[in-house]
Amino acid sequence: MLSRSIRTGESTSRKSRRITEHDSTDSVAARAAERVPPRATLAAVSRAASTCRACELWKAATQTVFGEGSTKAQVMLVGEQPGDQEDRMGRPFVGPAGRLLDQALAEAEIERSEVYVTNVVKHFKWAPAERGKRRIHKKPRYSEIQACRPWLDAELERVKPEVLVCLGASAAQALLGKDFRVSRQRGQLIQSPLAPHVIATVHPSSILRAQDDESRHQQLEAFVQDLRQVARALKRSVH
Ligand code: URA
Repeated sequence: MLSRSIRTGESTSRKSRRITEHDSTDSVAARAAERVPPRATLAAVSRAASTCRACELWKAATQTVFGEGSTKAQVMLVGEQPGDQEDRMGRPFVGPAGRLLDQALAEAEIERSEVYVTNVVKHFKWAPAERGKRRIHKKPRYSEIQACRPWLDAELERVKPEVLVCLGASAAQALLGKDFRVSRQRGQLIQSPLAPHVIATVHPSSILRAQDDESRHQQLEAFVQDLRQVARALKRSVH
């Protein structure tokens, strides 16, 4: 679903204003949509996103982490939000989850250069650890996902992937509806107007949280199987 102002083409003003708890999610999303420069290149959209204040998450984050990859990429992978290392480096999937993703993509014979990677939320949401200096990931709220949605819509409109892959429940529910269950529907092709082929699978971070080596190995194997399904869908759409 494209955000309301993109769908309706409402006139836009670039002025930002403070967000209050009482703002509806539609008006919060409209605020980000106002900042998406119409017909701009992806690079220009990324620059505009770097100053986004559509929700409060920018305050505790180091920077906006926009998607990365070629506009000609055939596959778009969508995660939840940048993690600690992504926040520091300003690039998606460069931390531990990103390294696991790279390994799984290689095993599924998908080139990282064929892929555009991004997140439904573009600021790191975190809370300080009770002890020590660690920044603990916090799940984004529905309103924060909605606030960020115009950036993701702008990426989808410009990359136009053949295969869209949702990594984990936050991305799957944001893109495929709140009743979507990754546990039940992972690896299946889903009918969606967002792309010719749409698939959801687990988030690589969930594999990193596995209890022991054996279950980590099994979960990684299942993740690679889902990515092989992506590679097959890609071959079908190219030929
Ligand atoms: N987890 C995500 O969902 N995205 C990233 O970019 C990194 C970790």
